[in-house]
Amino acid sequence: MIEFPKHFLWGSATSAYQVEGNNTNSDWWPWEKQTGKENSGAACRHYELYGQDFDLAKDLNHNTHRLSIEWARIEPLEGEFSDKELKHYVDVIFALKARNIEPMVTLHHFTNPIWFSQLGGWENSRAVGLFSRYCEFVVSVLAKHVHYWITINEPTIYSSHAYIFGTWPPQAKSLLKAKNVQDNQTWAHIKVYSLINKIYKEQNLPKPVIGIAHHISAVYSCKDSLRNRLAIFLRDQVYNYWILDNILRHKAMDFIGLNYYSRMLVDVKNWSLGSFLWGNCPDNHQPLKKNSLGWDIYPQGLLRVLLKLKKYNLPVIITENGICTNDDNQRWEFLYDHLKNVHLAIEQGVDVRGYLYWSLLDNFEWHNGYDPRFGLIDVNYTTFHRTVRESARKFAQVCKNGVLE
Ligand code: FCB
Repeated sequence: MIEFPKHFLWGSATSAYQVEGNNTNSDWWPWEKQTGKENSGAACRHYELYGQDFDLAKDLNHNTHRLSIEWARIEPLEGEFSDKELKHYVDVIFALKARNIEPMVTLHHFTNPIWFSQLGGWENSRAVGLFSRYCEFVVSVLAKHVHYWITINEPTIYSSHAYIFGTWPPQAKSLLKAKNVQDNQTWAHIKVYSLINKIYKEQNLPKPVIGIAHHISAVYSCKDSLRNRLAIFLRDQVYNYWILDNILRHKAMDFIGLNYYSRMLVDVKNWSLGSFLWGNCPDNHQPLKKNSLGWDIYPQGLLRVLLKLKKYNLPVIITENGICTNDDNQRWEFLYDHLKNVHLAIEQGVDVRGYLYWSLLDNFEWHNGYDPRFGLIDVNYTTFHRTVRESARKFAQVCKNGVLE
């Protein structure tokens, strides 16, 4: 029997664009159409059905739910803020609180308003100020009801997909642009961190808990060599630790939100910068089980990453961890093995405070569309009917008792 600490945060995560539907003012909306990708369309219709979805989360004993606010709904045109849409999110947060579920609110989860991307998005030096102004509008009203904030989801994944690999809008392929975008997002976080604290002070509210949700892969090499050692060091710095070091130099983080999915297996075959910075060894000589998108399943990597985070001396909340699969037994196996590793990390002194599974519902998996099924709950995209999966019920027992049998 494996016992987790009392007051552990248990639950799941979603993001607005992936579940709400009809986010017509966001940059992904025209991009999906231009590129002929699967369109997000009505997504899970969570914008209307959130009450029903939170009933299910409640039945599943979740005590925390991570959600995001869609900037483009709040500020559909530059400088024009929508009280009506903000009220919608107030209602959403009330719906969680009415069910005794703690909201954890993300202010930016990959998508931007169209007007913002037309100004050059996160490449523009005005981005920091524009993002802060939106955050001020939202946080001033939500402060009374929200204790946990995530400013930005996965800055390193955003900058690499949108500005290096060219898989997401605006599909740039430039290391310089990626660096600039990541710097701007880092500054935005630092600025919004103090902004949120200032708002809570002005409103005489207890200090909130603020972080980023940071994606970290466990980086390994398949054989020891100088090149591989160098690549591991570089990748760890560039993707995993620089941003945390930067933010912490400014003392602008109360917890580390960790999004962990998989490992990177490095085998550098030449001296090009690209092979040091990206690519997995193609040789498949350490074959592992994979999710339906082909990502290696590697629960031990979670332990390794958590142990590396120990040096920061901050609480860690696992803000995403999950699997897309059509085999629900595999989902439970994934959950079980990863939770076991979270517990090992706690035993070894890492201050882990919570675990949020990605995701509550099947949803729109960005450029991969609706095929990958990450949900604890199955969504039928024709009828929008929800079906709770068996793995969700097993996880519900863990959430209820804080014990992994
Ligand atoms: C993470 C994203 C999340 C989801 C999962 C599978 O990188 O934050 O929106 O797409 O991957």
